[in-house]
Amino acid sequence: MTKEEKYSQLVAQVRALVEGEDDPISVMANVSALVHETMHFWWTGFYIVRADGVLHLGPFQGPVACYRIARGRGVCGTALERNETIVVPDVEQFPGHIACSSESRSEIVVPLRGSDAAVLAVLDIDSKELNTFDETDRHHLEAIAAIVAPIAEFNQKHL
Ligand code: SME
Repeated sequence: MTKEEKYSQLVAQVRALVEGEDDPISVMANVSALVHETMHFWWTGFYIVRADGVLHLGPFQGPVACYRIARGRGVCGTALERNETIVVPDVEQFPGHIACSSESRSEIVVPLRGSDAAVLAVLDIDSKELNTFDETDRHHLEAIAAIVAPIAEFNQKHL
């Protein structure tokens, strides 16, 4: 199976997996598990923008990670500040990269946007290899972020 085919199946599975569930922590937990298991990444998880404007560690799969990341700090905080996906082919070349694990070599961070386009959370994925993430990853991970975002937004308003 090509990466494109694998991702097409994965996006459909994510859609089915979250159907009917509105608890964002449960959904982020299961989505990180499914993406991680299917794609065999090194670290797959969510950081959630809390009321203090800081990214707080959310549900994830992989080794333990940093609890909080300020806006503009590291790859995650930069994705939050710019409100855009960031692909990092080599983390050592990204100024300010936060090394939660010394084994991480490349990374992609995708914002989850609310209905007003503000960032609610980010999906952060790390790889032990250089140059893991390309336009195929970006395209499909953005689709997954768009499936999870309305559920994350529901949480902000109702819980
Ligand atoms: N490397 C990230 C920090 C989070 S860990 O990778 C899980 C960053 O620079 O924002």
